[in-house]
Amino acid sequence: MPSILVTGGCGFIGSNFIRLALSEDCSFLKDNGFDKIINLDALTYAGNPANLSDLEGDSRYQFVHANILDQALIEELLQDEDVMALAHFAAESHVDRSIDGPEPFIETNVTGTLRLLEAAKKRWLSLNEEKQAVFRFLHVSTDEVYGSLSKEDPAFCETTPYAPNSPYSASKASSDFLVRAYHHTYGMPVVTTNCSNNYGPYQFPEKLIPLVILNALDGKALPIYGDGKNIRDWLFVEDHAWGIMDALQKGALGETYCIGGRSEMENIQIVKRICALLDELAPISENPNVESGKIAKYEDLIKYVKDRPGHDRRYAINCDYIEEKCGWSPRETFDTGIKKTVEWYLANKQWCKDITDGNYARERLGNS
Ligand SMILES: NC(=O)c1ccc[n+]([C@@H]2O[C@H](COP(=O)([O-])OP(=O)(O)OC[C@H]3O[C@@H](n4cnc5c(N)ncnc54)[C@H](O)[C@@H]3O)[C@@H](O)[C@H]2O)c1
Repeated sequence: MPSILVTGGCGFIGSNFIRLALSEDCSFLKDNGFDKIINLDALTYAGNPANLSDLEGDSRYQFVHANILDQALIEELLQDEDVMALAHFAAESHVDRSIDGPEPFIETNVTGTLRLLEAAKKRWLSLNEEKQAVFRFLHVSTDEVYGSLSKEDPAFCETTPYAPNSPYSASKASSDFLVRAYHHTYGMPVVTTNCSNNYGPYQFPEKLIPLVILNALDGKALPIYGDGKNIRDWLFVEDHAWGIMDALQKGALGETYCIGGRSEMENIQIVKRICALLDELAPISENPNVESGKIAKYEDLIKYVKDRPGHDRRYAINCDYIEEKCGWSPRETFDTGIKKTVEWYLANKQWCKDITDGNYARERLGNS
Protein backbone atom coordinates (compact mmCIF):
# COMPACT_ATOMS: atom_id res chain seq x y z
CA MET A 1 0.00 0.00 0.00
CA PRO A 2 2.33 2.83 -1.12
CA SER A 3 1.63 6.12 0.59
CA ILE A 4 2.76 9.75 0.70
CA LEU A 5 3.72 11.39 3.98
CA VAL A 6 2.72 15.02 4.43
CA THR A 7 4.28 16.88 7.37
CA GLY A 8 2.41 19.84 8.86
CA GLY A 9 -0.86 18.83 7.20
CA CYS A 10 -3.00 20.44 9.92
CA GLY A 11 -1.64 23.88 9.01
CA PHE A 12 -2.93 26.26 6.39
CA ILE A 13 -1.21 25.09 3.21
CA GLY A 14 -0.78 21.43 4.16
CA SER A 15 -4.50 21.00 4.89
CA ASN A 16 -5.44 22.60 1.57
CA PHE A 17 -2.95 20.32 -0.19
CA ILE A 18 -4.39 17.17 1.43
CA ARG A 19 -8.01 18.14 0.76
CA LEU A 20 -7.27 18.93 -2.88
CA ALA A 21 -5.25 15.73 -3.41
CA LEU A 22 -8.18 13.66 -2.07
CA SER A 23 -10.85 15.59 -3.96
CA GLU A 24 -12.79 14.11 -6.85
CA ASP A 25 -11.33 16.41 -9.49
CA CYS A 26 -7.74 15.49 -8.64
CA SER A 27 -6.07 12.30 -9.89
CA PHE A 28 -2.80 12.87 -8.00
CA LEU A 29 -3.04 9.75 -5.79
CA LYS A 30 -4.10 7.48 -8.65
CA ASP A 31 -1.52 8.87 -11.10
CA ASN A 32 1.27 8.19 -8.62
CA GLY A 33 0.04 4.85 -7.30
CA PHE A 34 -0.48 6.14 -3.73
CA ASP A 35 -3.22 4.47 -1.71
CA LYS A 36 -3.07 6.84 1.18
CA ILE A 37 -1.96 10.22 2.52
CA ILE A 38 -0.45 10.17 6.00
CA ASN A 39 -0.49 13.52 7.77
CA LEU A 40 2.15 13.87 10.48
CA ASP A 41 1.68 16.97 12.59
CA ALA A 42 2.80 18.04 16.07
CA LEU A 43 -0.29 20.27 16.47
CA THR A 44 1.48 23.43 17.52
CA TYR A 45 -0.67 26.56 17.97
CA ALA A 46 -0.90 26.72 14.14
CA GLY A 47 -2.02 23.12 13.61
CA ASN A 48 -5.76 22.71 13.73
CA PRO A 49 -7.30 19.23 13.28
CA ALA A 50 -10.60 20.95 12.41
CA ASN A 51 -8.98 21.98 9.12
CA LEU A 52 -9.43 18.39 7.97
CA SER A 53 -12.41 17.22 10.03
CA ASP A 54 -14.36 16.63 6.79
CA LEU A 55 -11.93 13.78 5.96
CA GLU A 56 -12.73 11.75 9.07
CA GLY A 57 -13.65 8.23 7.99
CA ASP A 58 -11.89 8.49 4.62
CA SER A 59 -9.74 5.33 4.41
CA ARG A 60 -7.27 7.17 2.15
CA TYR A 61 -6.36 9.55 4.97
CA GLN A 62 -4.47 8.87 8.22
CA PHE A 63 -3.39 11.29 10.93
CA VAL A 64 -0.31 10.76 13.08
CA HIS A 65 0.22 13.12 16.01
CA ALA A 66 4.02 13.43 16.14
CA ASN A 67 6.92 15.83 15.87
CA ILE A 68 9.33 15.85 12.93
CA LEU A 69 12.11 15.92 15.52
CA ASP A 70 11.19 12.32 16.42
CA GLN A 71 13.43 10.63 13.90
CA ALA A 72 12.99 7.09 15.25
CA LEU A 73 9.19 7.30 14.99
CA ILE A 74 9.41 8.67 11.45
CA GLU A 75 11.88 5.99 10.33
CA GLU A 76 9.46 3.32 11.53
CA LEU A 77 6.47 5.04 9.93
CA LEU A 78 8.17 5.38 6.54
CA GLN A 79 8.98 1.67 6.53
CA ASP A 80 5.69 0.34 7.99
CA GLU A 81 3.49 2.48 5.75
CA ASP A 82 5.51 1.93 2.56
CA VAL A 83 6.04 5.67 2.13
CA MET A 84 7.25 6.50 -1.38
CA ALA A 85 7.16 10.30 -1.20
CA LEU A 86 7.29 13.07 1.41
CA ALA A 87 5.83 16.55 1.06
CA HIS A 88 7.41 18.59 3.85
CA PHE A 89 5.28 21.56 4.96
CA ALA A 90 5.84 21.46 8.75
CA ALA A 91 7.47 24.65 9.99
CA GLU A 92 7.26 27.54 12.34
CA SER A 93 5.98 30.03 9.80
CA HIS A 94 5.17 33.42 11.30
CA VAL A 95 7.84 36.14 10.88
CA ASP A 96 6.66 38.21 13.87
CA ARG A 97 6.95 35.20 16.17
CA SER A 98 10.48 34.54 14.88
CA ILE A 99 11.44 38.09 15.84
CA ASP A 100 10.06 37.60 19.36
CA GLY A 101 11.72 34.19 19.81
CA PRO A 102 13.87 32.55 17.10
CA GLU A 103 14.68 29.32 18.96
CA PRO A 104 11.63 27.19 17.93
CA PHE A 105 12.29 28.22 14.32
CA ILE A 106 15.77 26.71 14.45
CA GLU A 107 14.48 23.57 16.20
CA THR A 108 11.66 22.80 13.79
CA ASN A 109 12.77 24.36 10.53
CA VAL A 110 16.44 23.40 10.70
CA THR A 111 16.91 20.46 13.09
CA GLY A 112 13.46 19.06 12.24
CA THR A 113 14.20 19.15 8.50
CA LEU A 114 17.56 17.51 9.13
CA ARG A 115 15.97 14.63 11.09
CA LEU A 116 13.31 14.19 8.41
CA LEU A 117 15.99 14.06 5.72
CA GLU A 118 17.91 11.46 7.71
CA ALA A 119 14.81 9.29 8.12
CA ALA A 120 13.95 9.69 4.42
CA LYS A 121 17.51 8.78 3.41
CA LYS A 122 17.34 5.59 5.44
CA ARG A 123 14.02 4.67 3.81
CA TRP A 124 15.29 5.53 0.30
CA LEU A 125 18.46 3.45 0.77
CA SER A 126 16.37 0.46 1.86
CA LEU A 127 14.50 0.40 -1.49
CA ASN A 128 15.49 -1.52 -4.60
CA GLU A 129 16.76 0.45 -7.61
CA GLU A 130 13.39 0.58 -9.34
CA LYS A 131 11.66 2.00 -6.26
CA GLN A 132 14.52 4.36 -5.49
CA ALA A 133 13.96 5.91 -8.92
CA VAL A 134 10.40 6.96 -8.04
CA PHE A 135 10.95 7.96 -4.39
CA ARG A 136 10.69 11.74 -3.79
CA PHE A 137 11.33 14.26 -0.99
CA LEU A 138 9.60 17.56 -1.73
CA HIS A 139 10.59 20.49 0.47
CA VAL A 140 8.20 23.45 0.71
CA SER A 141 10.02 26.75 1.19
CA THR A 142 9.49 30.46 0.79
CA ASP A 143 10.51 33.40 -1.39
CA GLU A 144 11.61 35.17 1.81
CA VAL A 145 14.97 33.36 1.56
CA TYR A 146 15.86 35.75 -1.30
CA GLY A 147 15.61 38.89 0.85
CA SER A 148 13.95 42.11 -0.23
CA LEU A 149 13.49 43.83 -3.63
CA SER A 150 13.23 47.48 -4.55
CA LYS A 151 10.39 48.53 -6.86
CA GLU A 152 12.65 48.45 -9.91
CA ASP A 153 14.38 45.08 -9.27
CA PRO A 154 13.45 42.08 -11.39
CA ALA A 155 11.35 39.46 -9.56
CA PHE A 156 13.02 36.57 -7.68
CA CYS A 157 13.78 33.47 -9.72
CA GLU A 158 15.54 30.16 -9.10
CA THR A 159 19.02 31.68 -9.53
CA THR A 160 18.53 34.69 -7.22
CA PRO A 161 21.20 34.59 -4.48
CA TYR A 162 19.96 33.87 -0.96
CA ALA A 163 19.80 36.87 1.42
CA PRO A 164 17.41 36.05 4.28
CA ASN A 165 16.60 38.98 6.57
CA SER A 166 14.50 37.57 9.44
CA PRO A 167 15.11 34.66 11.82
CA TYR A 168 12.21 32.89 10.01
CA SER A 169 13.70 33.28 6.54
CA ALA A 170 17.20 32.44 7.85
CA SER A 171 15.85 29.17 9.27
CA LYS A 172 14.05 28.34 6.00
CA ALA A 173 17.20 29.18 4.00
CA SER A 174 19.18 26.79 6.23
CA SER A 175 16.65 24.04 5.62
CA ASP A 176 16.83 24.65 1.84
CA PHE A 177 20.62 24.27 1.97
CA LEU A 178 20.33 21.02 3.92
CA VAL A 179 17.91 19.63 1.33
CA ARG A 180 20.24 20.72 -1.45
CA ALA A 181 23.21 19.12 0.34
CA TYR A 182 21.41 15.78 0.72
CA HIS A 183 21.00 15.68 -3.05
CA HIS A 184 24.60 16.62 -3.82
CA THR A 185 26.18 14.51 -1.09
CA TYR A 186 24.01 11.40 -1.00
CA GLY A 187 22.12 11.60 -4.31
CA MET A 188 18.77 11.91 -2.51
CA PRO A 189 15.86 12.53 -4.93
CA VAL A 190 14.77 15.94 -3.64
CA VAL A 191 12.80 18.82 -5.17
CA THR A 192 12.39 22.24 -3.49
CA THR A 193 9.69 24.83 -4.10
CA ASN A 194 9.96 28.50 -3.04
CA CYS A 195 6.62 30.22 -3.06
CA SER A 196 5.23 33.67 -2.41
CA ASN A 197 2.60 34.71 0.17
CA ASN A 198 -0.34 32.32 0.19
CA TYR A 199 -3.93 33.24 0.96
CA GLY A 200 -7.20 31.33 0.99
CA PRO A 201 -9.42 29.23 3.27
CA TYR A 202 -8.16 27.87 6.62
CA GLN A 203 -5.40 30.45 7.14
CA PHE A 204 -4.65 31.14 10.79
CA PRO A 205 -6.06 34.57 11.74
CA GLU A 206 -2.67 36.04 12.72
CA LYS A 207 -1.79 36.52 9.02
CA LEU A 208 -2.75 39.70 7.13
CA ILE A 209 -5.74 38.62 5.02
CA PRO A 210 -7.75 36.61 7.60
CA LEU A 211 -6.84 39.14 10.30
CA VAL A 212 -8.29 41.97 8.24
CA ILE A 213 -11.46 40.04 7.37
CA LEU A 214 -12.14 39.00 10.96
CA ASN A 215 -11.24 42.33 12.55
CA ALA A 216 -13.48 44.15 10.09
CA LEU A 217 -16.41 41.84 10.83
CA ASP A 218 -15.83 42.44 14.56
CA GLY A 219 -15.71 46.23 14.00
CA LYS A 220 -12.08 46.33 15.23
CA ALA A 221 -9.17 48.39 13.86
CA LEU A 222 -7.41 47.08 10.74
CA PRO A 223 -3.69 47.42 11.56
CA ILE A 224 -1.35 48.27 8.67
CA TYR A 225 2.41 48.17 9.20
CA GLY A 226 4.36 51.35 8.31
CA ASP A 227 3.08 53.17 5.22
CA GLY A 228 1.23 50.09 3.91
CA LYS A 229 3.26 50.09 0.73
CA ASN A 230 5.11 46.79 1.28
CA ILE A 231 4.54 44.63 -1.77
CA ARG A 232 3.88 40.89 -1.82
CA ASP A 233 3.06 38.55 -4.67
CA TRP A 234 -0.16 36.78 -3.62
CA LEU A 235 -0.72 33.12 -4.45
CA PHE A 236 -4.09 31.40 -3.95
CA VAL A 237 -3.43 28.39 -1.72
CA GLU A 238 -5.03 25.84 -4.08
CA ASP A 239 -2.86 27.09 -6.93
CA HIS A 240 0.13 26.46 -4.68
CA ALA A 241 -1.12 22.94 -3.92
CA TRP A 242 -1.42 22.17 -7.65
CA GLY A 243 2.12 23.53 -8.12
CA ILE A 244 3.48 21.19 -5.46
CA MET A 245 1.82 18.21 -7.12
CA ASP A 246 3.30 19.24 -10.48
CA ALA A 247 6.76 19.72 -8.98
CA LEU A 248 6.52 16.31 -7.28
CA GLN A 249 5.54 14.59 -10.50
CA LYS A 250 7.49 16.49 -13.13
CA GLY A 251 10.26 18.29 -11.22
CA ALA A 252 13.88 17.43 -11.96
CA LEU A 253 15.87 15.94 -9.08
CA GLY A 254 17.87 18.45 -7.04
CA GLU A 255 16.01 21.31 -8.77
CA THR A 256 14.17 24.22 -7.20
CA TYR A 257 11.00 25.85 -8.57
CA CYS A 258 9.63 29.28 -7.73
CA ILE A 259 5.83 29.41 -7.42
CA GLY A 260 4.04 32.76 -7.45
CA GLY A 261 0.59 34.10 -8.19
CA ARG A 262 1.57 36.80 -10.70
CA SER A 263 -0.34 39.15 -8.36
CA GLU A 264 1.97 41.80 -6.91
CA MET A 265 0.11 44.19 -4.64
CA GLU A 266 0.76 46.68 -1.86
CA ASN A 267 -0.62 45.68 1.55
CA ILE A 268 -2.86 48.75 1.62
CA GLN A 269 -4.39 47.77 -1.76
CA ILE A 270 -5.15 44.30 -0.38
CA VAL A 271 -6.82 45.71 2.71
CA LYS A 272 -8.92 48.15 0.67
CA ARG A 273 -9.96 45.34 -1.71
CA ILE A 274 -11.10 43.20 1.23
CA CYS A 275 -13.01 46.14 2.72
CA ALA A 276 -14.80 46.76 -0.59
CA LEU A 277 -15.80 43.08 -0.81
CA LEU A 278 -17.10 43.14 2.76
CA ASP A 279 -19.09 46.30 2.06
CA GLU A 280 -20.82 44.27 -0.65
CA LEU A 281 -21.11 40.86 1.08
CA ALA A 282 -21.57 41.86 4.73
CA PRO A 283 -22.83 45.48 4.74
CA ILE A 284 -22.06 47.54 7.83
CA SER A 285 -25.74 48.43 8.21
CA GLU A 286 -26.45 44.71 8.88
CA ASN A 287 -23.40 44.07 11.08
CA PRO A 288 -24.37 44.01 14.78
CA ASN A 289 -20.69 44.29 15.83
CA VAL A 290 -20.34 47.77 14.37
CA GLU A 291 -21.93 50.53 16.37
CA SER A 292 -24.58 52.18 14.23
CA GLY A 293 -23.30 55.37 12.59
CA LYS A 294 -19.72 54.88 13.89
CA ILE A 295 -18.25 54.28 10.42
CA ALA A 296 -19.66 54.46 6.90
CA LYS A 297 -17.53 51.75 5.30
CA TYR A 298 -15.08 49.08 6.50
CA GLU A 299 -12.13 51.06 5.08
CA ASP A 300 -12.71 53.60 7.88
CA LEU A 301 -11.33 51.00 10.33
CA ILE A 302 -7.82 51.14 8.79
CA LYS A 303 -5.15 52.16 11.31
CA TYR A 304 -1.45 52.58 10.53
CA VAL A 305 0.84 51.03 13.19
CA LYS A 306 4.61 51.03 13.84
CA ASP A 307 6.44 49.01 11.21
CA ARG A 308 7.85 45.50 11.86
CA PRO A 309 11.64 45.66 12.47
CA GLY A 310 13.61 44.82 9.29
CA HIS A 311 10.36 44.62 7.30
CA ASP A 312 11.20 43.49 3.73
CA ARG A 313 9.87 46.00 1.22
CA ARG A 314 8.95 43.88 -1.76
CA TYR A 315 8.77 40.21 -2.73
CA ALA A 316 7.90 39.12 -6.24
CA ILE A 317 8.24 35.79 -8.02
CA ASN A 318 9.02 35.07 -11.62
CA CYS A 319 7.37 31.68 -12.15
CA ASP A 320 8.33 31.18 -15.82
CA TYR A 321 10.51 28.17 -15.00
CA ILE A 322 7.86 25.98 -13.37
CA GLU A 323 5.41 27.03 -16.09
CA GLU A 324 7.84 25.91 -18.78
CA LYS A 325 9.20 22.74 -17.13
CA CYS A 326 6.18 21.42 -15.21
CA GLY A 327 3.27 22.95 -17.13
CA TRP A 328 1.94 24.74 -14.00
CA SER A 329 0.39 28.20 -13.92
CA PRO A 330 -1.95 29.92 -11.44
CA ARG A 331 -5.65 29.35 -12.15
CA GLU A 332 -6.92 32.19 -9.98
CA THR A 333 -6.42 35.91 -10.45
CA PHE A 334 -6.24 37.96 -7.25
CA ASP A 335 -9.82 39.15 -7.86
CA THR A 336 -11.26 35.63 -8.10
CA GLY A 337 -9.08 34.22 -5.30
CA ILE A 338 -9.81 36.98 -2.77
CA LYS A 339 -13.55 36.76 -3.45
CA LYS A 340 -13.48 33.00 -2.76
CA THR A 341 -11.45 33.67 0.39
CA VAL A 342 -13.74 36.35 1.83
CA GLU A 343 -16.79 34.19 1.03
CA TRP A 344 -15.16 31.22 2.80
CA TYR A 345 -14.50 33.22 5.98
CA LEU A 346 -18.06 34.53 5.96
CA ALA A 347 -19.41 30.99 5.59
CA ASN A 348 -17.13 29.52 8.28
CA LYS A 349 -17.56 31.85 11.23
CA GLN A 350 -17.57 28.97 13.74
CA TRP A 351 -14.12 27.80 12.54
CA CYS A 352 -12.84 31.34 13.10
CA LYS A 353 -14.59 31.70 16.46
CA ASP A 354 -13.13 28.41 17.74
CA ILE A 355 -9.65 29.70 16.93
CA THR A 356 -10.06 33.19 18.32
CA ASP A 357 -11.72 31.79 21.51
CA GLY A 358 -8.93 29.22 21.86
CA ASN A 359 -11.54 26.44 21.86
CA TYR A 360 -9.69 24.30 19.35
CA ALA A 361 -6.54 24.37 21.48
CA ARG A 362 -8.47 23.55 24.65
CA GLU A 363 -10.19 20.60 22.96
CA ARG A 364 -6.85 19.30 21.81
CA LEU A 365 -5.25 19.60 25.23
CA GLY A 366 -8.21 17.74 26.65
CA ASN A 367 -7.68 14.91 24.16
CA SER A 368 -3.97 14.42 24.50
N1 LIG B 1 1.78 30.73 4.43
C1 LIG B 1 2.53 31.27 3.50
O1 LIG B 1 2.17 32.29 2.92
C2 LIG B 1 3.83 30.62 3.10
C3 LIG B 1 4.58 31.23 2.10
C4 LIG B 1 5.77 30.63 1.70
C5 LIG B 1 6.17 29.43 2.27
N2 LIG B 1 5.43 28.87 3.25
C6 LIG B 1 5.90 27.59 3.82
O2 LIG B 1 4.87 26.63 3.63
C7 LIG B 1 4.86 25.70 4.72
C8 LIG B 1 3.47 25.63 5.32
O3 LIG B 1 3.11 26.94 5.75
P1 LIG B 1 1.71 27.22 6.47
O4 LIG B 1 1.37 28.63 6.23
O5 LIG B 1 0.74 26.15 6.12
O6 LIG B 1 2.17 27.05 7.99
P2 LIG B 1 1.25 26.89 9.29
O7 LIG B 1 1.98 27.62 10.36
O8 LIG B 1 -0.16 27.23 9.00
O9 LIG B 1 1.30 25.32 9.57
C9 LIG B 1 2.44 24.66 10.01
C10 LIG B 1 2.03 23.26 10.46
O10 LIG B 1 3.22 22.57 10.84
C11 LIG B 1 2.98 21.93 12.10
N3 LIG B 1 4.27 21.84 12.81
C12 LIG B 1 5.01 22.88 13.29
N4 LIG B 1 6.12 22.40 13.89
C13 LIG B 1 6.09 21.04 13.76
C14 LIG B 1 6.95 19.99 14.14
N5 LIG B 1 8.10 20.24 14.80
N6 LIG B 1 6.62 18.72 13.82
C15 LIG B 1 5.46 18.45 13.15
N7 LIG B 1 4.59 19.40 12.78
C16 LIG B 1 4.90 20.68 13.08
C17 LIG B 1 1.98 22.82 12.81
O11 LIG B 1 1.27 22.13 13.83
C18 LIG B 1 1.09 23.25 11.65
O12 LIG B 1 0.05 22.32 11.44
C19 LIG B 1 5.95 26.17 5.70
O13 LIG B 1 7.09 25.41 5.48
C20 LIG B 1 6.17 27.62 5.32
O14 LIG B 1 7.50 28.01 5.60
C21 LIG B 1 4.27 29.44 3.69
